[in-house]
Amino acid sequence: MKGSLLYEGKAKRVYHVNDEPEQLVLSYKNDATAFNGKKKDEFEGKGRLNNLITSKVFEYLHQQQLPSHFIKSLNDTEQLVAKTTIIPLEVVVRNVAAGSITRRLGIEEKSVFEPPIVELFYKKDELDDPILNDYHALYLTDVTEAELQSIKDKALKVNDHLKDLFKQSGLKLVDFKLEFGRLADDSIVLADEISPDTCRLWDEETGEKMDKDVFRESLGDLISVYENILQRLEENTCAK
Ligand code: TMP
Ligand code: ASP
Repeated sequence: MKGSLLYEGKAKRVYHVNDEPEQLVLSYKNDATAFNGKKKDEFEGKGRLNNLITSKVFEYLHQQQLPSHFIKSLNDTEQLVAKTTIIPLEVVVRNVAAGSITRRLGIEEKSVFEPPIVELFYKKDELDDPILNDYHALYLTDVTEAELQSIKDKALKVNDHLKDLFKQSGLKLVDFKLEFGRLADDSIVLADEISPDTCRLWDEETGEKMDKDVFRESLGDLISVYENILQRLEENTCAK
């Protein structure tokens, strides 16, 4: 059923689906990159963990009436999704200060954002994904003003639900990045992945970092941390 390779990114390969032009297969790789690919490594099992975690998260969001491109998980490392044209925006929602915002704006790590802060970045490796305002986003992409507003509203709704989901697993959702894509009918839907590669998650009790910062900051064994996240999500979703 999997067809030819359409695109290879830093974390995933994207394949056509034979006889299903409006579907794609996403195949999660074991590669980890940070700082726009300047730091690189490979971790056996990472592709499986991100595929399974993303699948759980999208399934949960579907149950909360928040649709995405996700159709189903196919096997350990692959999932079937609706074909979209990705809008070149990284939509970041921040509940607590960490990462680039602390450096960019001199905000102390762990400062709480209430209400949460939404930021837009231009998805363009050659430019190191610069931060954008709405005017830039409207100029650089094909989204309308109303669509941009709806993207930000959806990102905040996703935040509400993900905060709950992770809290039930003893994790604080510090921040995360979303991408959106356009379906064949022109509507815009949540796409890409939601995993510890794209979220910051801190243990509620110990404050321990349990996401890709473990790799970015060389804090320990990435795979055991991602295993732990999957296990917590499985315990939490099975108990219901
Ligand atoms: P930042 O603090 O580096 O701007 O990252 C904010 C959030 O976005 C964090 O949860 C990590 C995620 N992220 C990605 O998923 N991809 C990226 O390329 C970057 C820079 C951040
Ligand atoms: N995703 C980016 C990279 O692959 C940056 C990051 O996540 O820190 O290099």
